[in-house]
Amino acid sequence: MATTKAARFPEDFVWGAATAAYQIEGAAQAGGRGMSIWDVFSRMAGAVRNGDTGDVACSHYERLEEDLDLMAALGLRAYRFSVSWPRVQPDGMGSLNRDGVDFYRRLLDGLAVRGIEPVATLYHWDLPQDLEERGGWTSRDTALRFADYASAMGDALGGQVGRWITLNEPWCSAWLGYGRGVHAPGRKEVSAALASTHHLLLGHGLALAALRQSGSTPVGITLNFTPVLPASQHPDDLGAARRADGQANRLYVEAVLRGSYPPDVVEHYAPFRGGLDMAEDGDARLIGAPIDFLGVNFYTSTVVADPNRLSNAREAGYNIGRLESDPVLDDLRAPEVRRGDLDRTAMGWEVDPGALTDLLVRLNDDYQSPPIYLTENGAACHDYVDPNGEVKDKDRIDYLRSHLLAVSDAIGRGVDVRGYFAWSLMDNFEWAYGYSRRFGLIWVDYPTGRRIPKASFSWYRSVIESNGQDLSGGASS
Ligand code: FCB
Repeated sequence: MATTKAARFPEDFVWGAATAAYQIEGAAQAGGRGMSIWDVFSRMAGAVRNGDTGDVACSHYERLEEDLDLMAALGLRAYRFSVSWPRVQPDGMGSLNRDGVDFYRRLLDGLAVRGIEPVATLYHWDLPQDLEERGGWTSRDTALRFADYASAMGDALGGQVGRWITLNEPWCSAWLGYGRGVHAPGRKEVSAALASTHHLLLGHGLALAALRQSGSTPVGITLNFTPVLPASQHPDDLGAARRADGQANRLYVEAVLRGSYPPDVVEHYAPFRGGLDMAEDGDARLIGAPIDFLGVNFYTSTVVADPNRLSNAREAGYNIGRLESDPVLDDLRAPEVRRGDLDRTAMGWEVDPGALTDLLVRLNDDYQSPPIYLTENGAACHDYVDPNGEVKDKDRIDYLRSHLLAVSDAIGRGVDVRGYFAWSLMDNFEWAYGYSRRFGLIWVDYPTGRRIPKASFSWYRSVIESNGQDLSGGASS
C-alpha cells in the first residue's frame, strides 16, 4: 500500500493552498467592481447548476481576516490567489480602481504579517465583460489589454507579491469557454477556441515581458495537464490519443516551452478558418520567452479510443459512458472511455496518481521544464457535516496523500518540483457545477458563510509541519 513508502521533499519545499477570485470573493457589487464574463454567463438559463452565481460565494471579501487566520492555523507557507481583473480595472482598460486594488493590498499585508508567501494569478477566467463585448479572447486586442493590466498590477502590487502567474489553464478558457460553451462566455465554435488559444498565449507572452520590465518576478504560467492514454495499441486508438494529447497538452506546453505549436495540431485545425494562422511575426518568440517556473495543475488522466473502435474498447473492459457531442468533441474524434478499476472523485474524475509522476518526468525529459510548482491538485468528495459538527473527509486525505507520494516519486527521479498547492483552501463556486461540488480543506456553510476546517485540514497541517515526511498525518496507517 502506497502509504508505507517514505516521501521525500526538499527542505525549502513550498507548501501551499490555492483559490481563485470569482470562486470565493463574492462582493460582486462592492467597491466599484465591474462585470465579468462569469457574472453574465452564470445568469444564462441552464449554464450553471441550480442557477448558482459567484455574487456571494464564500464572502471572502468580507471575511478576509478570518480566512487569513485560517491560513495561518493551517501553517501555509504560500497562498495562491487570483486577482479579479474587473475588480481592479472594471472595464478592462484605463486607470485602476483604487478600492479594488486596496482589497488586494489588505490581503498582501495580511499574508506578510503571517509570513505566508503570496502567489498571484493574474487571470483565473474572469474577463471583464466589456472586453468580451469587443470580441473577448478571440480578439488580439484583448492580449494587449491583458498586458496593460499586468503591467499596472506589477506597478501596484509588485513589491508585495512573491511570485506571479500570468494565466490559469488557458486550455479551459479557450476550449471550455469558446469551443464547447460550458464555461463563460459560452461560445461554441472551434475557430473561436483556436483564436482564443493564440491570444491567451500572446497575452501571457506580453504580460511576462511587461512584468519583467517592471522587475516583478519570478513569473510563470499555470497549465492544466490531462495525460491521455490510448484504449489499445491499435493504430487508430493511438491516433485518437495523439489528437487528444495534442489539443489538451502539447499545444500549450510546446508553445510556452519550445516557442512553437506542434505541427500535427496546426495541421489538424487548419481547416477551421485557418486554424492557428492568426499568429503574427514575433508572437512565437514572446510566447516562448523563458519563464522562471512552470505551474502544473493535475487532477486526472484519461483514456480515449477511436470512435469506430468503441466496441473493441468495451470488449477490453472499458466502460463507455454517454457520449457527449459538441463541435469540439465531434471534430476531435477521441471519445473518452472509463477504466472500471479506478476510484472516482465526486466530479467523476478517475484517480490515477501514477499519471502525475509520469507527467512530471515527461515534462522534465521531453521539455527540459523550468522548476515546477504543482499549482493545483485536489479532489471533490461527498463531504457532509456529521452530528458532531465535523467533516471527516477521508477520501480527500487519501487522494492528497497518494498525489503527494507521486510528486515525491518524481522528485526522486530527478524532477525539480519546488512546491505543492492543494486545491482548494475552502469549498467554493465550482464553475458550471456551482456550489454542488466541494474541493475545500475547509467546509463552507453557504447560507451563513461559517467555516469548518475538515479532517483534511488537520492532516495537511501535520504534513506541512513534518515537511511531508509524515503523510499519515499522525494516523497509524
Ligand atoms: C481547475 C480550476 C480551478 C478549479 C479546479 C477544480 O480547472 O483551475 O478553478 O475549479 O479545476
